[in-house]
Amino acid sequence: MLKDFTEKVAVVTGAASGIGFAIAERFVAEGMKVVLSDIEEGALDKAVGRLTRDGGDVLGHVTDVSDRDSVHALADAAFDRYGAVHVLCNNAGIGSGSEGRMWEHDPRDWDWCFAVNVFGVFHGVQAFVPRMLAQDTDGHIVNTSSGDGGIAPLPNASVYATTKAAVVTMTEALYAQLHQVGAKLDASVLFPGPRMLRTGLWESYRNRPERFAKSRPRRTPYNTLDAWEKAMRESGQEVAYTPVESVAADVVEGIRANRFWILPPGEHSDGQITARSGSMLARSNPTYLESFVLDRETK
Ligand SMILES: NC(=O)c1ccc[n+]([C@@H]2O[C@H](COP(=O)([O-])OP(=O)(O)OC[C@H]3O[C@@H](n4cnc5c(N)ncnc54)[C@H](O)[C@@H]3O)[C@@H](O)[C@H]2O)c1
Repeated sequence: MLKDFTEKVAVVTGAASGIGFAIAERFVAEGMKVVLSDIEEGALDKAVGRLTRDGGDVLGHVTDVSDRDSVHALADAAFDRYGAVHVLCNNAGIGSGSEGRMWEHDPRDWDWCFAVNVFGVFHGVQAFVPRMLAQDTDGHIVNTSSGDGGIAPLPNASVYATTKAAVVTMTEALYAQLHQVGAKLDASVLFPGPRMLRTGLWESYRNRPERFAKSRPRRTPYNTLDAWEKAMRESGQEVAYTPVESVAADVVEGIRANRFWILPPGEHSDGQITARSGSMLARSNPTYLESFVLDRETK
């Protein structure tokens, strides 16, 4: 179990912005050496510059987590520079930008979203875990899921929700397998929240590689966080965000406490857990707690 973070090495994917950057910043504040990786080179350079100016011992590495070779090159860079890795945060994730109902979706949106949100985590596990096991020191892997899928499916974000459900199952299996082999490594699944975060997730299309290009142009403009916020307010619903710093604090605290579910309590998530497990136990049909204001894909 990893308790002391000083001088330990962390790798964070999707670290150039949003939650990933906040986690990297917090790790630096804890005295860790941090490898920040991201597909967005300009934002990554800025993030690395900022943490370096703050006195951090950090390395930036451009990585596309959907590309197996790219993630293995990240592992090479991290071990070459620091000789060890103690914490791996498989955090990079995207919203698919799909339109309409599932049967109307562009299949390329599913290809891309699974490649980043699911295979990105799998590539991280394959590239880092064997070397972390060989290192034979205490360590931790944190995989980022989302309440939207990880707890209960958000019907109007079906691609995103499906990938985030997969991350939960993958991490449960990883946790069990690490214990089966007596590893000094543990695993956690992170649900950033309890509320939404104001990050670049809604503009995920900015990082869409050409090889996952849509097969047809969008019919409507991309949804924006501002439009979602407006619709929420107009329907009388409260809009409030969780600051990214509080997610970073949850990660640090969750690793120290060796907590599998890094799932901050909240009325919304607790209600969803109760409703979903209750429906399964009762063998009843699904019910959805929220009336979703946007009758279209949101992520
Ligand atoms: N924002 C929220 O409300 C929220 C809620 C729950 C879960 N999450 C999850 O948190 C994680 C971080 O998202 P965020 O909200 O900070 O969004 P963000 O867009 O600000 O950050 C995501 C980062 O991942 C990077 N990225 C995208 N594709 C990549 C790829 N192929 N390879 C490497 N890096 C890539 C982006 O450049 C970006 O820096 C995601 O997994 C997301 O699904 C976010």
